[in-house]
Amino acid sequence: MKIAVLAGDGIGPEVVSQAVRILSLLRPDFVFEHALVGGAAYDDCGLPLPSATLDLCKAADAVLLGAVGGPKYDKIQPPELRPEVGALLPLRSELNLYANVRPAKMLDALKESCPIKLGDRKMDLVVMRELTGGIYFARPRERRDHGNTAVDTCIYQRHEVVRIAHRGFEIAMQRRKDLVSVDKANVLETSRLWREVVTEIAPQYPEVKVSHMLVDNCAMQLVRDPSQFDVILTENMFGDILSDEASMITGSLGLLPSASLSDPKDGKVFGLYEPVHGSAPDIAGQGKANPIATILSAAMLLKYSFDDTINSARIEKAVDKALDAGYRTADIFADGTTLLSTEEMGNAIVNAL
Ligand code: IPM
Ligand code: MG
Repeated sequence: MKIAVLAGDGIGPEVVSQAVRILSLLRPDFVFEHALVGGAAYDDCGLPLPSATLDLCKAADAVLLGAVGGPKYDKIQPPELRPEVGALLPLRSELNLYANVRPAKMLDALKESCPIKLGDRKMDLVVMRELTGGIYFARPRERRDHGNTAVDTCIYQRHEVVRIAHRGFEIAMQRRKDLVSVDKANVLETSRLWREVVTEIAPQYPEVKVSHMLVDNCAMQLVRDPSQFDVILTENMFGDILSDEASMITGSLGLLPSASLSDPKDGKVFGLYEPVHGSAPDIAGQGKANPIATILSAAMLLKYSFDDTINSARIEKAVDKALDAGYRTADIFADGTTLLSTEEMGNAIVNAL
């Protein structure tokens, strides 16, 4: 069982090492192989995604990623060599990771950090974001005409919408069976195709309650009452924006994991797992970063790529236990709690395990 570990930049290596430590504790059969990605790879060989790194991912059973990017790399020309566009996007397309699962769940222990008044309502939703199509990938992706006209193109093929819609319905079936498909069908043709396809597929999942919502309304509804959502199914860029919005409503960006998945096969699926947060260069190397998002990404790795729901649930429970005991990293620290470093939080979760 081979796990490709791409720690990346900034706080990436610190948080990834805590997740690897927990995975190796639970799964002695896992072999971890490390490779460079993002700015770290660019510094090493002038490319943010060297072919050796991509090959390692292709040969692995799953990929664990930290984060890429930082101010040092923002000005690299051409933009294709920047960590985000030059590493993350090709990793997604080359590995066919079209289904991006981004859960946003408010933990009881952190209820006080939710920026909106929820009362007794609970927020526990998943954004199922299409990840390899739309405006991020259509060719020509971008054009500039003497600096005066800029063009980005949004293209969706029917088959791309069909496969992500199935993934959305499947995850809804495992949850509360409520799916909201989000689009901008009052303006965009790609959205009208999206809505048409989702409507066609819906009867195959008769138990799932389906509705359609325009993306601007969805952005508003998330703030008005996030407890109304179970699964939000949406295209690439809307999902990028809505998942950031949803994550901040939980009050704790440092806690949220994500999975980018390919096609399922025999109950398992190849995937890349990473925290939702970025490389946080301002606190890199200081032991301040919260490793929980990456540790929970490791839990998703066990569940989706190895069908190991037992160890996955163990990790989630251990995280809850550490938080319930009042252990906090700086990003979620509050009066009356205990401030820990990245490694100490890893220790607390290992002890809980
Ligand atoms: C994300 C990020 C990326 C995206 C960027 C860094 C390319 O914001 O994973 O949400 O837009 O997909
Ligand atoms: Mg984003």
